[in-house]
Amino acid sequence: MAVNPTSKILSKVVNSRVGLNFLANGRKYIHVTSAVTMPVKSGDKLPSVDLYENSPASKVNIAELTARKKVIIFGVPGAFTPGCSKTHLPGYVSDFDKFKSKGVDEIVCVSVNDPFVMAAWGKEHSADGKVRMLADTNGAFTKAMDLEKDLTGPLGSIRCQRFSMLVEDGVVKTANVEPDGTGLTCSLSNSLLSQL
Ligand code: BEZ
Repeated sequence: MAVNPTSKILSKVVNSRVGLNFLANGRKYIHVTSAVTMPVKSGDKLPSVDLYENSPASKVNIAELTARKKVIIFGVPGAFTPGCSKTHLPGYVSDFDKFKSKGVDEIVCVSVNDPFVMAAWGKEHSADGKVRMLADTNGAFTKAMDLEKDLTGPLGSIRCQRFSMLVEDGVVKTANVEPDGTGLTCSLSNSLLSQL
């Protein structure tokens, strides 16, 4: 059976936005723009993915961590970056008691960085005992949540969009993903507190 070359190409770009088709030099071209993503949303179940705490030897499975618990997870583009260090992480550290009083069991910070970097960043912000600093070393969690952001230019690799979410018994109850992926608005601590 003859294979239609166009449908063969289309089958490889299911996650992409297909724009105008055009003809040039007698060939049919398909213009493909940026990938269409469906970021995490309320009702989603967290994937069974391992993150790393303090060292590559210490795995934390995020589905197990959130089972039977009320957990806040926020994600940042990178440890030690200005917005994440001056605003995002400090907000959650200083609001720890407020979250606890609203029945939150754990607060988790995730970034596509190695676990040693995450541990050093947490130490600098006195996060110990308040915010767990989990490394999404290979980006598996970020990918599973459809939260990838290409920050190859400024940070050297694919990172995580800035987000926050409330998870109850492994299921996302509220999700706030920054519209541009890096801004400091809906994913901040005070915003999530107002949703509890
Ligand atoms: C930040 O300051 O949070 C930031 C810096 C560069 C890229 C993304 C985020």
